[in-house]
Amino acid sequence: MGAMDGRTVVITGGNAGIGKETAVALARDGARVIFTSRDAARGADALAEITGRSASTAVEVMPLDLASLASIRTFAERVLAATDRIDVLVNNAGLLLQQRTETEDGFETTFGVNHLGHFLLTDLLRDRLVASAPARVVVVASNAHTFARTGLDFDDLQATHRYSAFPVYARSKLANILFTDELARRLAGTGVTANSLHPGYVDSRFGRDGDSGRLDWFFGLGARLFAIPPEAGAATSVFASRDASLADVTGAYLVKSRVHRASARARDADAAARLWEISERLVSA
Ligand SMILES: NC(=O)c1ccc[n+]([C@@H]2O[C@H](COP(=O)([O-])OP(=O)(O)OC[C@H]3O[C@@H](n4cnc5c(N)ncnc54)[C@H](OP(=O)(O)O)[C@@H]3O)[C@@H](O)[C@H]2O)c1
Repeated sequence: MGAMDGRTVVITGGNAGIGKETAVALARDGARVIFTSRDAARGADALAEITGRSASTAVEVMPLDLASLASIRTFAERVLAATDRIDVLVNNAGLLLQQRTETEDGFETTFGVNHLGHFLLTDLLRDRLVASAPARVVVVASNAHTFARTGLDFDDLQATHRYSAFPVYARSKLANILFTDELARRLAGTGVTANSLHPGYVDSRFGRDGDSGRLDWFFGLGARLFAIPPEAGAATSVFASRDASLADVTGAYLVKSRVHRASARARDADAAARLWEISERLVSA
């Protein structure tokens, strides 16, 4: 018997890095795991690895590109058709881009994928989470949010005036925490909790797949010197997904599997409410 027997977990970006290790750990613990991949071949490779390492056959991969609202809607429909319950949603996928690009729907890609895509996905799966309560939403944010010292730029959320990779990434991770806090407030009383986390500095492919340009060497060198392996990097996501001590904890930010104080900017309830309203408008436009 595993601690996650009978539970269904949905993980975005489970074909690599922290998400893949989260999938292995939760599948090993008895959960049915649905993870996503943008690329079919990478998804199939990860599926073989996750089923092999977890010795579980209750693992599925589905296509999802968070840079496309249409793909998010199609994925949500598939998930809702495939499972009567969602006990845990792990919003894990994320990226950092050296050059400013736009998603299919015209959003700056870092903000669009890391925040807006997950905002829409969570909304589409919300009712099923509530029906499955007690349930959890787990958001993989980052301590990088502390570098967003002036908070979100509500006049330029899409970084059209000035684009710089790391500050834009830091603001997207600040948006992850603000979103989680507002979600926790809105889910109060439903039995669904929402917590965000920092996974640690993890030796994944993050920032090293060529998309981060000049920062690529930095992530590579830093990873070799300081980073923890992806298995260890998944520990806080796994803790947030299943640990009994968190049953009634919501709106928290976790680091090293402990509740941690996020930056003052990340605890700004007005900014969280404002971001929510704008995000709602953007994904429904
Ligand atoms: N690594 C760190 O040190 C670190 C530190 C703090 C926070 N984080 C956060 O941890 C999370 C996981 O990162 P990681 O370190 O595991 O990096 P990773 O190895 O690069 O994995 C990122 C995952 O996100 C997926 N993804 C990227 N863009 C996507 C899109 N448009 N639609 C759907 N999925 C997409 C990737 O899929 P593809 O294979 O298709 O690219 C991959 O599965 C991210 O949210 C990141 O911000 C990481």
